[in-house]
Amino acid sequence: MTLKYFGHSAFQIITDGGISILIDPFITGNPFAKTKAEELKADFIIVTHAHGDHLGDAQVIADKNDTTIICVPELAWILQEEGFKTHELQIGGSYSFPFGDVRFVKAEHGSAMPDGRYAGLAAGAVISTGGKTIYHAGDTGLYGDMKLTAELYEIDYFLVPIGGNYTMDFKDAALAASWLKAKLAIPMHFNTFPVIEVDPAKFVQAAERHGVQARIMGFEEEITL
Ligand code: NI
Ligand code: MN
Repeated sequence: MTLKYFGHSAFQIITDGGISILIDPFITGNPFAKTKAEELKADFIIVTHAHGDHLGDAQVIADKNDTTIICVPELAWILQEEGFKTHELQIGGSYSFPFGDVRFVKAEHGSAMPDGRYAGLAAGAVISTGGKTIYHAGDTGLYGDMKLTAELYEIDYFLVPIGGNYTMDFKDAALAASWLKAKLAIPMHFNTFPVIEVDPAKFVQAAERHGVQARIMGFEEEITL
């Protein structure tokens, strides 16, 4: 199983069975992504919320016959009207997909389509696949119920926003990683825009002070999970 990072909050998991899962595929306009959205293929696309830097190229990449977009119901209804195949998953709910289980958890954040239409709540996604558990926190501020997620899951990989302003900053993110007892924390959602500029090495140091191992993924880097 591999995990690839495209910068911002965009990741791709490819399972040992060859299932491609994209998360928040913001590719076009993402200064760190070298891949073109049209080159990406996905069996599933998990969209944490409808903001343009997360919904991103989901509609460009999704094959209306073969790709299932996993998102909250209110966003799913909009995508269904556009002809896309969706799976409606609400916060607190989990479902078994062919690649494994996904639970949506709370994200302390807003959500709306890029044109301003209401698109439900913002979520984080806990993905259990190939014997590993990956928690993509979406866009979120620090909140205490992350401790509930820590009680429910052993988190192997914590993909966490560190850029501040719209989300947690690197210090909050390090505290969250310690609550979650994450085996490895990977920073995201930084340096894409001026207001979220931060040196990710500061996050790695802060996480280590909390006893959590962290690793900065390079842009378009792929690691084996
Ligand atoms: Ni957002
Ligand atoms: Mn964002």
